[in-house]
Formats: sequence, structure tokens, C-alpha cells
Amino acid sequence: YATTHEADLVVIGSGPGGYVAAIKAAQLGMKTVSVEKDPTLGGTCLNVGCIPSKALLHNTHLYHQAKHDFANRGIETGPVNFNFNKMMEYKVNAVKALTGGIGMLFKKNKVQLVRGVGTIIDPKKVQVKGEKGIETINTKNILIATGSEVTPFPGVAFDEEQIITSTGALSLKAVPKKMLVIGAGVIGLELGSVYQRLGAEVTAIEFLGSIGGVGIDGEVAKTLHKILSKQGMNFKLNTKVTSVKKEGGSVKVEVEPSKGGTKETLTCDVVLISIGRRPYTTDLGLKNVGIALDDKGRVPVNNRFQTTVPGIYAIGDCIHGPMLAHKAEDEGIVCVEGIKGMPVHFNYDAIPSVIYTTPEVGWVGKSEEDLKKEGRAYKVGKFPYLANSRAKTNGEPDGFVKVLSDKTTDVILGTHIIGPGGGELINEAVLAQEYGAAAEDVARVCHAHPTCAEALREANLAAYCGKPINF
Ligand code: FAD
Ligand code: NAI
Repeated sequence: YATTHEADLVVIGSGPGGYVAAIKAAQLGMKTVSVEKDPTLGGTCLNVGCIPSKALLHNTHLYHQAKHDFANRGIETGPVNFNFNKMMEYKVNAVKALTGGIGMLFKKNKVQLVRGVGTIIDPKKVQVKGEKGIETINTKNILIATGSEVTPFPGVAFDEEQIITSTGALSLKAVPKKMLVIGAGVIGLELGSVYQRLGAEVTAIEFLGSIGGVGIDGEVAKTLHKILSKQGMNFKLNTKVTSVKKEGGSVKVEVEPSKGGTKETLTCDVVLISIGRRPYTTDLGLKNVGIALDDKGRVPVNNRFQTTVPGIYAIGDCIHGPMLAHKAEDEGIVCVEGIKGMPVHFNYDAIPSVIYTTPEVGWVGKSEEDLKKEGRAYKVGKFPYLANSRAKTNGEPDGFVKVLSDKTTDVILGTHIIGPGGGELINEAVLAQEYGAAAEDVARVCHAHPTCAEALREANLAAYCGKPINF
């Protein structure tokens, strides 16, 4: 058991940013060490984020459909029930399979794993405090990929049973009767949907006048609000929470209008607080090397992901930009390519966002609100799923695709989807936008029929010449 290691690159953190960067670095011939403090690899995304939430979303969606929709489709089942423990077990197994997979990928690519909390001692040295004691890694380069953590609510302590973060919501022991969600952003809508489908009475309290968090197009947000309300989720918009207290077995949440006004007390069994995440750099030793965080607690980097200290880089949730797994991964790849002297190109206008509700919401690029703010002249092409043969046949007619393109050049500036398979279909729009396509380019590409993707083509057709075919 060695206590000193030599490396070309030490990657601190094994989330989607860090583990992908470590594999790429090893593939490019660097002697790479990954440092992880948690017992399993994969960071927030695999352990308590993307993966467990999608396991619960998928299975609760299937349950909900079996219970409420199968009969309409001529499928007879007898009583449909769910086994919550089994659903959670399924989620645990999905997470296990993927986190274990990273260990195998590390072995295959010869990435060395050192377990424990990594601290930067100087630009060429990382110390790792683990169960086995202290290990030291002498290295040419360091990549910080330490991710993010839940933003706490001032004055409120999480017990992860009744006052919970997303992590608690992914591991509840039973479905609450009444659940309050503070913050109707991505987490609030996704995890709120999970428990609403299982029978909880869910109310989301949102400070702003719209749901869906940052970057969502206003028209999409309104449509999503309408659809989720119809599914049974309750919303209290323009409302702020002033206190959260446990009292006699339940939780009392005091709220008032965002702009001030009459207070109201809401009672629930469980309150999920999902008001955002913040960068995590605890115990990282940034002070030892003189790296100062910005006003939002992020590690400042330039467009090659270099910090102010030569040889130290940072990517993912702990730097600027949206806190998304695919953004972290892609930054990781170009960052290590940059260390090898290769070009570093990253287009922040072509990062997709997806909210995995039913229907799914997906977008890339600018919203109408963004374009108005910029004063940019644009065209709108819209196509409703109601007029898409596949969506209609499948009985999933809610939603639309909206394409925004430049008024003179027709170059696509943004695509917004709410509807069946929106989270998959958005990737086609990302491809188009990354390659600088005009709406006409996508409109002229042959699309398989009958597919929901034809709605994207039609929206592009509408943006380019004002006239879709099927609507
Ligand atoms: P992280 O995944 O946070 O990983 C950082 C790692 O670094 C952790 O393993 C941590 O233990 C380790 N670490 C930190 N400090 C040290 C140290 N000093 N020494 C050693 N190890 C250290 N994004 C999506 O794109 N799609 C989704 O569907 C999605 N769903 C989500 C659902 C939920 C409930 C949550 C909370 C997040 C979700 N996200 C989703 C966001 C996504 O999880 C993050 O954007 C992503 O994990 C960021 O990756 P990262 O590598 O930057 O950091
Ligand atoms: P979020 O930023 O998406 O939403 C937070 C919401 O809370 C906002 O609408 C905000 O206006 C509201 N809010 C803030 N303070 C409030 C207060 N005091 N009272 C009431 N409302 C308040 O953050 P969320 O949902 O916590 O998710 C964190 C991050 O995790 C996301 O921004 C995203 O980066 C990532 N994530 C991504 C997912 C995906 O890609 N599908 C899924 C889940 C999380």
C-alpha cells in the first residue's frame, strides 16, 4: 500500500465531470489519479441526482399510466397497486449498476483511484485523507471537479425525513399524505411529480410568478404549469416562505406573497426544499494556492478552464454555467484535451436542458424572453403535438415545439419542446444549433414517419417559411 503516488493529472471528484475527465486523460496517455471522498463513484448525478430521480420518475409514470390510462386503451389489469419498497429497491439497483460501472471503466482505462478527501497543498501536490490514513500525490496538473451541494434555507435544519433535500426525497420510507415543495424549479417539479403520482397531495411554493427555474421559455413554463395542475399538482406562485417549523408530528410552513401581505400557515407531513444548489469546495485547500472564489462561491476559470494558478483547472458544477451533468462531462473532456495542447472549444449556447416530467420539457439556446431582452429580431415557428400523427395516435397530444430563428439569416437561435419524448428530441435541435443550421436546413431533412420528431421538422418549416404542412 503506497502512501505516495506520482501523476500527470489528479482529478478531485468523481462526478460526471471528474470521472469522464479522468478517463479521457488516461486515454490521452496521462498517468491519472481520481480522488473521491464518498464510498461510491459518480458524484451527485449517479448517487443522489440524475439517475435515482429518473428511476423513480420512470416507474411512477408507468404506475400512473397503468392505473389511470390503460383502461382507455383497452388494457384490462385488475387493481393496480404499487410497492414503494420495491420501487426504491429498483432505484438502488439502477444506481449500483452505474456507480459500479465507473470502477470498471477506471480499471479498463488505467485510472488509479485514491479514496478520501483531497486537499491541494501546493500546485504540484494533493494530500488525500482517507480511511487508510494520509496519502500524498505529486502531480504535474490538478483538475478540480468537486461539484455542488444543496443551498440551505436560512434558519432551517434538514432532518432528511420531514424537512428534506432532494437526497431525502429520493429515499423516503413512505409516501407522504401531504407534501410541500419550496421552489418550483427542476427538482421541485420532478420529485413533486414522483410523489403526486403515488398519491401525495403536493403543493409547490414558488417565489417567482412562473415555474421551471432558470432559462425556460415563458410560453413553455405556462403550458407546463397548466398540464401539471391538470395532473393534480398544486402551485402557489409569487409566494415566499418565511418560516419552516416542526410541530406535533407535522411541519408548519409560513408563507406570504412575495411582495409582502397577509401571512398564511400551511401544514404538511414532509417539506422538500429545492431552491437551488451551490458550488462545493469545502476542505479543498484553495487558500493554500491563493485561489479566491467569486461572489457565488464558484472557482473562477478562463475559457481553457485554467484557474489563476498555472496547472490547476476546474470544471462542472463548481464553476460558472448551468449545473448539469452533460455540461460537466463535456467541459471535462475539452479541459484535459487542452492540457494536452489540443484546441478547447465550448459552446455554452448549445447545452440542452431537460425537465423529466410528463410530458418532458427540453430546450436549447435562447428563449423568447432572452431575445426580446437582447433586442434581436427573430421569427417563431410553432407546431402543436395535436397535429403530429404519432403523438395523436399514441394519445399524447399535449404540448408543442417552438423554433426561434434569426429574422434575416434564418439561423436557429433556440428550440423549445414540451411534449412526448421532448428530452430525447431536443438532442436533434442541439445538433442543428451546434452546427449553425438555419431553420430551413432542418425543415429540408427527411424525418421518419410517423414520429414525434416530425413536429420539430414542422416547427422549423414554420419558422423558415411561415407555413407548416400539417397544421
Ligand atoms: P458532482 O456530481 O457533484 O461530483 C463531485 C464529486 O466530488 C462528488 O462525488 C464529491 O464527493 C467529490 N468531492 C468533492 N470534494 C472533494 C474532495 N475535496 N475530495 C474528494 N472528493 C471530493 N443534471 C442533469 O444533467 N440531468 C439530470 O437529470 C439531473 N438531475 C438531477 C437531479 C437531482 C436530484 C440533483 C440534485 C441534480 C441533478 N442534476 C442533473 C445535476 C447533476 O447532478 C450535476 O450537474 C452533476 O452531478 C455535476 O457534476 P460534477 O462532476 O461537477 O459534480
Ligand atoms: P432551480 O434553480 O432549478 O429552482 C429553484 C427554484 O426555487 C426557482 O424557481 C427559484 O425561483 C425558487 N426559489 C428560490 N428561493 C426560493 C424561496 N425562498 N422560496 C420559494 N421559491 C424559491 O433549483 P433546484 O430545483 O433546486 O435544482 C438545482 C439544480 O440541479 C438545477 O438548477 C439543475 O442545475 C440541477 N438539476 C437538473 C435536473 C435536470 O437536468 N433534469 C434535475 C434536477 C436538478
